[in-house]
Amino acid sequence: MSKNRVQIFDTTLRDGEQVPGCKLNTEQKLIIAERLDILGVDVIEAGFPISSPGDFTSVEKISKLVKNATVCGLTRANKKDIEVAAQALKYAKRPRIHTGIGTSESHIKYKFNSTQEKIMERAFEATAYAKKFVEDVEFYAEDAGRTDNEYLARVLEKVIKAGATVLNIPDTTGYCLPDEYGAKIKYLKENVKGIENVILSCHCHNDLGLATANAIAGIQNGARQIECTINGIGERAGNTALEEVVMIMKQHPYLNLDTGINTKLLYDTSLLVQRSMGMIVQPNKAVVGENAFAHSSGIHQDGVIKNRETYEIMDPAEVGVTESSIVLTARSGRAALAYRAKNVGYDLTKIELDDLYPQFLKFADHHKTVNDEDIHHLMELNHIHKSK
Ligand code: KIV
Ligand code: ZN
Repeated sequence: MSKNRVQIFDTTLRDGEQVPGCKLNTEQKLIIAERLDILGVDVIEAGFPISSPGDFTSVEKISKLVKNATVCGLTRANKKDIEVAAQALKYAKRPRIHTGIGTSESHIKYKFNSTQEKIMERAFEATAYAKKFVEDVEFYAEDAGRTDNEYLARVLEKVIKAGATVLNIPDTTGYCLPDEYGAKIKYLKENVKGIENVILSCHCHNDLGLATANAIAGIQNGARQIECTINGIGERAGNTALEEVVMIMKQHPYLNLDTGINTKLLYDTSLLVQRSMGMIVQPNKAVVGENAFAHSSGIHQDGVIKNRETYEIMDPAEVGVTESSIVLTARSGRAALAYRAKNVGYDLTKIELDDLYPQFLKFADHHKTVNDEDIHHLMELNHIHKSK
């Protein structure tokens, strides 16, 4: 059976770059855009062209550079934003305008001091106007996560009539639970006229740590695009992490979902974004964190040394990490010490290992980890020489 293709829409350079301290210059953005294209993302959201002259230039240059992916520019629902975005995207092989407006009660009341009917009209007009410049128009219903489903469905029907090709359902505030977000997508699939002709897109924020779970719930209920960022960077607690959703789909083949991502490039891409933005991921970050494939407790290490699958659900090589690491700590067992000693040249006999182990534990109790140099020192103290 052929797999269902899920489009990966990367917004590292737009939602990701909005983060304080993550600002990139045009040169850095071009390097990342090129890497994203090679990684195999379907859409690169290159920026918000009207926001600054620098962002305009970046979107324009990225449009010229990118060979395969669709290049997208964000706008608010007004003519000037849309005209500027169209101008910045002029050289893109596959341009997309991403326009939209807040649809939740609080956005309509506090941001726009408006009414549901007027907002619906603005949504229609913005989509129809964007359609004059490009064929591919994505509409976002900002704060859709907290928008009444019936009203949301009416707005979406309207923008489909105006020519929208993709409908983005953002959980802008990261408030939804996965079953709630999934049910919203299901409701829209079942109640919006014309929905079969467009792609529904998940755009989830991580305020409660649910961005990845929500995006997957959306996909399981019929959405076919995920908006995400490398390392999950983005406003406040961030966006859905690209590397996480891609590996979830890959590691669960029964979901029958597929992406165009070359997963072997994930780790390097993560490092590139970390270094360019000066935003280092926490060691326990799923898939790309320093400890994602590191084993430190004796029980786990013993299992992994016997067979990787005992404690690893994915092969590190699949995401571009050379190998799993066995980290020596005071929780490590004899198997781990023997394994690491062998890696640096010492094939220990059982007697040698039994003699060394208590000394190793004493040392490890006073250090966070035991490194290769420490192993050599321990061997020297015990007059153990490298094996031939
Ligand atoms: O989170 C959000 O609602 C957004 C939109 C502008 C798409 O980033
Ligand atoms: Zn967002």
